[in-house]
Order: sequence, then structure tokens, then C-alpha cells
Amino acid sequence: MSSRQTYDFVIAANRLPVDRHVHPDGSTEWRTAPGGLVTAMDSVMRGWDGDDAAWVGWPGFSGEAPEPFDEGKLRLHPVPLSAQELSDYYEGFSNDTLWPLYHDVIVPPTFHRSWWTCYRAVNQRFADAVCEVAAEGATVWVHDYQLQLVPALVRDKRPDVRIGWFNHIPFPPVELFAQLPWRESILRGLLGADFLGFQRPDDARNFARSCRTVLGATARGEKVEWQGTDDDRLGAAPRTVRAAAVPISIDAAGFRELADSDAVRERAEEIRESLGNPEVVLLGVDRLDYTKGIRHRLRAIGELFDDGAISPDQVTFIQVATPSRERVQAYRTLREQIEGTVGRINGDVSHLGATAIHYLHQSYPREEMAALYRVADVMLITPLRDGMNLVAKEYVTARHDGKGALVLSEFTGAAEEMPQAYRCNPHDIAGLKETILRAINDEPAEKERRMRALRRRVRKHDVQTWAADFLAGLEAAPERPSRSGAKAQA
Ligand code: ADP
Ligand code: G6P
Repeated sequence: MSSRQTYDFVIAANRLPVDRHVHPDGSTEWRTAPGGLVTAMDSVMRGWDGDDAAWVGWPGFSGEAPEPFDEGKLRLHPVPLSAQELSDYYEGFSNDTLWPLYHDVIVPPTFHRSWWTCYRAVNQRFADAVCEVAAEGATVWVHDYQLQLVPALVRDKRPDVRIGWFNHIPFPPVELFAQLPWRESILRGLLGADFLGFQRPDDARNFARSCRTVLGATARGEKVEWQGTDDDRLGAAPRTVRAAAVPISIDAAGFRELADSDAVRERAEEIRESLGNPEVVLLGVDRLDYTKGIRHRLRAIGELFDDGAISPDQVTFIQVATPSRERVQAYRTLREQIEGTVGRINGDVSHLGATAIHYLHQSYPREEMAALYRVADVMLITPLRDGMNLVAKEYVTARHDGKGALVLSEFTGAAEEMPQAYRCNPHDIAGLKETILRAINDEPAEKERRMRALRRRVRKHDVQTWAADFLAGLEAAPERPSRSGAKAQA
């Protein structure tokens, strides 16, 4: 156990990197938490060569939180959520208000004042926990849409610390953001940071434009200047904040090594054999989320089977649909729709020994994910909107044999960095079908050329580069208030 009470580097994210699961017999187990945020930050912290650091986050279940504990050089500092807070702050405001609003309102966002009240209260709790563990002058790195008030709440209590915030999801255009009844408070909460990182330049520009339109702030290039108000603790003092794109990535070297291990190679062969050695394996890997375009993908695949353009004797599609946010209605509806469609397609076109679609609603160890990528001749990534999509980067890294093909939606952050993918617009089902067929049938040399360029990009811009760029941006941020100076302004 670490004897230190405060830390020079503090991460705050809604989730800790591990979730506690309770088995039916009452025994408990800590498992890696789901999603790209944890994948990325976990890799960053595993390679961390600085002093001990703390990670403040929710341990994945409601009720009393466990005592802080250590994982390597990382002190995990659990923040409790009651069952009501889980429902109002996490499932409600975070995932039924902000998530759909920030993803192009693919489903309509729900606005409830009681959810907002709870979001504020929980953000205050996270901010208090950060202030408790941050040493004098510490660097605090806040993550994602669940904690947008934390930067200003921390700054109010601890003007000595340096605060960065990174948005793992898109930031919407002001025309959508303006729907949010609490838009001003959210922006003021974020402007408590010194540096704000976004996935794409467009996200940073959307944020700056929202500050201009909603708050009347001055935004020039990456700089936002805001005079502040004194009606609450969210952004009372004048501030200059930099908002810039810092696209996230994966631990390319680590993932390549994993994908290249004997165990993963053998497992990949086993998987292919268990599928009956099809000529072509198509793969989709997504949290079961309406942003991921799984329904559009299934529509295209179903039609290709129906048209006879592909046959289950030669082609099989594996869809891994990771369980996610299962108590939110939009996610339940999506699951019913997807499972209905998979059943319909399999019923219509599969026959004994030739299954059109293998549907897997489960989480897997990383080795199994790497083996699945190695098996996939074509990876189908068709989100309607996605901040980045790390699966795309994992796939090209795992296929360092030069084989494989990546079909990638133009509505992902990854598409900006990966122009050599087979680009698609998932709303255009005819176009998507053509793109899938092209990715299957193109000459091996053409596929190899594309994959080589994609792999090179991910290797050069890996998660370590991302973290270094973010922290350099934070270090170089325009304003570093002295403890007394900032207090005087507030
Ligand atoms: P998101 O953050 O929206 O879930 P990303 O593609 O950015 O999407 O990141 C997803 C991460 O979760 C990847 O690292 C991927 O390997 C991992 N993942 C997705 N599905 C599973 C699964 N069923 N089992 C284990 N890991 C998964
Ligand atoms: C996305 C979000 C993360 C979130 C993850 C999993 O990657 O950006 O903040 O943790 O999805 O979602 P969950 O709701 O299970 O935490």
C-alpha cells in the first residue's frame, strides 16, 4: 500500500480502470472496465515512468465505495454513487441527455431538471475527491462528458493546480449544443480548465463557437477568452483557455506484440477452423450502442446475402456486441432490434454448417480480441458518429501481416487520420454494400498498400504520443494562476 496521501498527477474519469463484479455466490472480482477511455488511459499509466499517481473514479457498482487501493504505481480512489445517482447522473444526464446530444441526436436527448441537479452534485463529489488527493501544484487530468463541471469546481477550491480536460466523444455544433437547457453552466465548468483537448479540430472549433455564441466569449484560433461571471462557482474569474485537437490512439507496440504472440496466432487458427474455414470472415466489434451503426451494417450485410452477392458457404460475419448501459431504454430497444435482425437473416440465409452471422453479446480478454482481429479479412466499422474509434486502430495494428481490409465510416474521428481505409457513409446502404464488396474483392496488393499506410500512421501516433502531446499542451497553456493571484480574482 502507498503511504502517500497526495499526488502530483491525478486522473479523474467517471470509471476507474477496473469494475467490481459480484458473482452469484457473493464472491467479487475486479475486471477491466469497458470502453476506449479505459483502454487508452490504462496503457498510458502502465508505461508511466513518473512518480506515483492517483485515479479518481466510480468503481462500477452502486452503494458504499471501497477504500482507496493501489494497482502498481497507481492509487485508485473510488467515488461512490448511490442507486439513485447511478440512475440520474450516469444513466440519465450522462447517457440519456449528453451522449445523444453530443452524437448528432441520433436518438432524441431527454432533458430532466432532476438529472441535472444530480449531475451537479456528483461532479462536486468528484471535484472534492480530486482536491483531496492532489498535491500542491499537481497536474489534474479530467476526462470526458460525465465530468464537465469538475474543471471549474476544482479550480474554485484549488487554484494552485493545473487542470486539463479531454473529451473522448465529439463536441456538437452549437446548433445542437444550444438545445441543452444548462449549456452555459457546462461551458463555464469546462472553462475552469487550462487546456481542453478534443478528438478532431472540428470538435475544438464547435466548442469555441459555443463559447462565443452562448457565453459571449472571445474565441480566436485555439484561444478562448472569457470574462467570467460571479453568480456561482463555475467560472467566476476571467480566463484564457486553449482548446485544441489531440486525437487519441492505442498502445501500438504493445498491441502488435500481443497480436503476434504464439497464443494469439494459435487461437486465431482455432477460431477460423471452428467457423468451418470460410473464404472470407467479416468482423464488427462495438459496444452495443446506437452510435455505432450496427443496424445499418446489418441491413447492408443482410441485403448482400439476400441478393446472393455473398453466400454463407463462403462468407461469414462475426458481430461482437459488447453489453453496454443496459438499463437505458434506447439501448434496450437497440438490442431487441439487432437481435431480431440477426435472427431474421440467419433464419433466411444460413444452413446447417454455414452460419451467415455469429452474434456474440459478451466481453472478452484482450488476447481474444486480438485473435478475432487476426481472423478478420474485412473489418466493418460503420458508426453514425464516433469520437475516435480505437477498434479501427487495433485492427490495423493486429494485421501487421499486411492482410485484411478496413471499411471505415467517414463519421468517426479515426477517418480523419486513416484516409487509406475503404471509406463509407453508413446511411447510404447501396454505397455501403458496394464498399464491402470492394473490400472483399480488391487485389491483395491494393489491400496491402492500404494496410501498410494505416499501420504506419497508428505506429507513429500511438497512445504514448497522444498523452505526451496532451500534457505538453497543458504545460504550455496560456494561464498559470498563482495561488494568491487566482484567489484574488475569484
Ligand atoms: P468506445 O469507447 O465507444 O467503446 P472504441 O472503439 O474507441 O469505442 O473503444 C472500444 C475498446 O473496447 C477497444 O479497446 C476494444 O478492443 C474494447 N472492446 C470492445 N468490445 C469488447 C469486448 N466485447 N470485449 C473486450 N473488449 C472490447
Ligand atoms: C465511451 C466513453 C467513456 C465510457 C465508455 C464506456 O468510450 O467515452 O467515457 O467509459 O464509452 O461506457 P460506460 O458508460 O460503460 O462507461
